[in-house]
Amino acid sequence: MSTAKRRRWHIPASVTAKTTFNPIRSIVDRMKITPNPTKKMIALSIGDPSVFGNLEPCQEMLEAVVKCLKQSKHNGYAPSTGYVKAREAIAAEHSYPLSPINYKDVVLACGCSGALELALDVLLNPGDNVLLPKPGFSIYQTLSISRGHEVRHYNLLPERSWEIDLNHLESLIDDRTRAILVNNPSNPCGSVYSKEHLEAILEVAERYMLPIIADEVYEYAVFPGYKFYPLAQLSDNVPILTCGAISKRFLVPGWRLGWVIIYDKNEAFESEVRTGLIALSQQILGPNTLIQGALPEILTNTPQSFFDNTMRTIQKNAEILYEALLRIPELEPKMPCGAMYMMVGIDISKLDGIVDDLDFTEKLISEQSVFCLPGKCFQYPNYFRIVLTVPEELTQLACKRINEFCKTHRRVIVKKPQPE
Ligand SMILES: Cc1ncc(COP(=O)(O)O)c(C=O)c1O
Repeated sequence: MSTAKRRRWHIPASVTAKTTFNPIRSIVDRMKITPNPTKKMIALSIGDPSVFGNLEPCQEMLEAVVKCLKQSKHNGYAPSTGYVKAREAIAAEHSYPLSPINYKDVVLACGCSGALELALDVLLNPGDNVLLPKPGFSIYQTLSISRGHEVRHYNLLPERSWEIDLNHLESLIDDRTRAILVNNPSNPCGSVYSKEHLEAILEVAERYMLPIIADEVYEYAVFPGYKFYPLAQLSDNVPILTCGAISKRFLVPGWRLGWVIIYDKNEAFESEVRTGLIALSQQILGPNTLIQGALPEILTNTPQSFFDNTMRTIQKNAEILYEALLRIPELEPKMPCGAMYMMVGIDISKLDGIVDDLDFTEKLISEQSVFCLPGKCFQYPNYFRIVLTVPEELTQLACKRINEFCKTHRRVIVKKPQPE
């Protein structure tokens, strides 16, 4: 319509805005969240380790930021890819004999979300498809769908500690598939893949000549006895864009510093992907410069005991929950090995007055004031996800309340009297 013909105000939103959809937000915003007024709410729903105040960044991290602030040298714009010193620090931590990198292979981003956005944007055109885990973190879908990418979900297998069903993954690949996204350790599963499983994933990627986007925002966040293998450390041939951030492991999601690392020693990405990432980084400048400036000291000065303490808290909560929920006949908790979450299966058929996982979690709030996210938020019905970063006493209390909830709704099976 020409401007001359406009008769009334009508300003539509863009297609991008209209197609942007975050399953967690749209489900949570529509959920009936009315806690029982006699019980204080316990939110086991938020994947932000800073909310309860029991897990805090260490002094060394705070000092690095304060020092940087006082130096007053990081108040201007940084290069779009980030300060060289920050990129060097990330490269030094993420260079492996099989996949050596330097700072030129690192692009800073606004948290791991920003890194994932860059990785998807550089590899996919509208109409291309990307393979995503199910259950999986919802931002992959949110970013892809608003860009006109097709998302195809490959199954994770709860009975195999949430390993990827590789046959299913393969069956989804076609000539418009541009990338496989692998999240390890996983949100929402808390799984940590073995070296053998990661090698099997790489083998599929190599056979189909597909790059991998490795979401490793929970790198090294594993329980004692488990080992985290960065995918790139194992890859001989498969090009990988690894996305990471200080958000979770350093307990500062609000600091918004993430990165994409290009692993491409055989130049499968040629010059295009690297140039593309740099071009995309120029759309909006990356993370704030104070945290960029402090990053080298944050990475080198944070003591191992800080990470160990965090994982001890998470593992203790996981054990408390696992043992308590295992005794509830309607629930099937899946013991995690890392990250900060646990998935719990629900046998709806054993519960009276509960129709699905959404209904379960809504009623758990209204009756017991315990807030967990329904599996639907992760494309995985009949499960719910529990966050493990809360103080131990709240975890204990939540276990009691979940038990009480299930007892209240337990379906009573009336046995027919047997003829004498
Ligand atoms: C698996 C996974 N990837 C990426 C992100 C986003 O991280 P950030 O807060 O650094 O953007 C999250 C946040 O919860 C996550 O769980």
